[in-house]
Amino acid sequence: MQHGINSWLQIRENKLEELKTHSLITVEWKENKVIMIDQTKLPNSLEYVAYTNYNDVANAIKTLVIRGAPAIGVSGAFGMALAALQSSSETIDGFISDLKKAKEILFETRPTAINLSWGLEEMYDYALGCAQQGATVSEIKKDLIIHAKQMAEDDISINKKMGKNGVELFQNNDTIMTHCNAGALATVAYGTALGVIRATKDSGKNIKVIATETRPIQQGSRLTAFELKHDGIDVSLIPDTAVGYTMANGLVNGVIVGADRILRTGHVFNKIGTYQVATMAKQHNIPFYVAAPLSTFDLKSNPEDVIIEQRKASEVTGIGDKKTAPDGINVINPAFDMTQPELISGIITENGIAKPPYEESIKKLFEAKK
Ligand code: MRU
Repeated sequence: MQHGINSWLQIRENKLEELKTHSLITVEWKENKVIMIDQTKLPNSLEYVAYTNYNDVANAIKTLVIRGAPAIGVSGAFGMALAALQSSSETIDGFISDLKKAKEILFETRPTAINLSWGLEEMYDYALGCAQQGATVSEIKKDLIIHAKQMAEDDISINKKMGKNGVELFQNNDTIMTHCNAGALATVAYGTALGVIRATKDSGKNIKVIATETRPIQQGSRLTAFELKHDGIDVSLIPDTAVGYTMANGLVNGVIVGADRILRTGHVFNKIGTYQVATMAKQHNIPFYVAAPLSTFDLKSNPEDVIIEQRKASEVTGIGDKKTAPDGINVINPAFDMTQPELISGIITENGIAKPPYEESIKKLFEAKK
């Protein structure tokens, strides 16, 4: 269901004022609806969609109406809140079983970003906890909405903490490269990697950004360039193939990216191409940083356990509706890759910065969380 853009823009402006954040609000809960920016329409038009059915939220995640690890984590949580409202069960057992079904449907949408299962499990466990304490179905419904809204607000404050923690990493007049979109549009607002960039700029440093285009579906040119320009941050777009050129010619002082999943060993899963950027940064002695909340960490899995989403061939054989490859060509189109810890200078979280050796350092960040 589409909403009048002007009314949602007004809501967004009020919300920005309330949260004192100067970035887009990507997803929010309003009057029992999940409102999100339709990112498939960017940068050509800023349109909002509103959902009242969790199946539609699942479809939005699958079709990249919303994308970016923290944003899909919170969308999953909102999807669970919609599932709670949709349940017509009057018994706790029936209600919990409806939530379980919704959790499975939402989980099936995308496999790599761990924030999605984090958001779903958090909501499901919260409902179980309320049920164990004797809450009624209607009380749990209300509590789940409050809980999901809290998760969305926490996402913004966590991003701001990460921003502050990362501010000292870059110097005045630095040019920072980023890959894909780890900004407001990949979170509820403000962003992880772009949050650090926003905070660095707000600290008074004059910085510039180089955004990679990020083929095949161009999150860099469609989303990162859009949101940085929207916020008045100096950004230059490069084709992915110019990463080596810009680094070799002294045009890049540091790199910062987001993450979809980080293992206890410091292995980082992020948008396809991140590994190439990190390798090239190492070659040119340029620091390479990752910014991600603790909800992006997967302390249990090993590298070989992580499922890399494989996406459709048409993303590679064309750009938009225009065909750029011969019919019937074989295509390999992984959506994510893994960057080894040796290539990473530091991982910025809301609890501080993990530095090599990562296993030890990440453990400490989690202990500080308790
Ligand atoms: O396929 P996408 O657009 O969901 O991939 C997004 C990324 O890889 C981002 O860099 C990552 O989720 C970090 S977002 C803060």
